[in-house]
Amino acid sequence: MEDSKTASTAARRPYLSQTPSSSMAGKRVGILGSGDVGQALGRGFAAHGYEVMLGTRSPDKLGEWVEAVDDAGSVGSFAEATAFGDIVVLALNGEGAENALAMAGPEPFAGKLVLDATNPLDFSAGMPPHLFTGAQDSLGERIQAKLSDAHVVKCFNTVTNAQMIDPVFEAEPPKMFICGNDEAAKAETDALLKELGWPGAFDVGDITAARYLEALVPLWVRVGSKLDTYMHAFTVVK
Ligand SMILES: NC(=O)c1ccc[n+]([C@@H]2O[C@H](COP(=O)([O-])OP(=O)(O)OC[C@H]3O[C@@H](n4cnc5c(N)ncnc54)[C@H](OP(=O)(O)O)[C@@H]3O)[C@@H](O)[C@H]2O)c1
Repeated sequence: MEDSKTASTAARRPYLSQTPSSSMAGKRVGILGSGDVGQALGRGFAAHGYEVMLGTRSPDKLGEWVEAVDDAGSVGSFAEATAFGDIVVLALNGEGAENALAMAGPEPFAGKLVLDATNPLDFSAGMPPHLFTGAQDSLGERIQAKLSDAHVVKCFNTVTNAQMIDPVFEAEPPKMFICGNDEAAKAETDALLKELGWPGAFDVGDITAARYLEALVPLWVRVGSKLDTYMHAFTVVK
């Protein structure tokens, strides 16, 4: 039975699907990364009916996560999680991302939608972080260049892990900013986001736009420190 919170949320957000859609149900998601983002996305995809494998260098540390997702989740190496996924999600530390991709090898990514949640954050000077990429560069572009046969879509990088699946804001959730080179991959991402509780994707262009989606993050951190919460997201009004 629906509780009152679920019912009122569904009334406000009719795009929320309560059950996996027929197009997505049964799909497998390989998530590279075992930190807060990987674990939160893993739980969220599992709750939406996906089979999930988290990729890590240390599978032994994820026993609690596996218990939390029951039969829907497993753990493997970066290469195993990539091979497992119909969709692959990158939830990797920015500085370690290219090493993790090298460990997985480019082959298992070929032809797949790769959702890139990573940010090139440099905390060496403390908070707030800086970007370690230059103005004409981004981690999204570096990742697409390394995975030339995959369809990389920057996604999830501008919100906290706690809001990535079935977000709840005081206002209507915004569309998720995405970018990437492949139109079909971006259409698939839009449909996926709707299934995961967002009103869809706000497509800001090809993968070079990752420069600006990644650059939003130091601003997002500064805004969060003013708000004293990191549950916020940026939106577009006109
Ligand atoms: N935290 C958030 O709410 C949030 C929100 C939006 C975007 N992001 C971005 O999402 C990404 C993941 O963030 P996070 O907070 O979950 O965790 P994180 O600590 O930034 O990254 C954890 C993952 O990176 C891997 N890793 C670290 N160094 C590596 C190396 N040298 N070689 C290979 N793999 C390496 C770790 O592998 P092992 O499992 O083997 O240790 C682990 O799986 C980051 O790029 C972050 O900026 C974070």
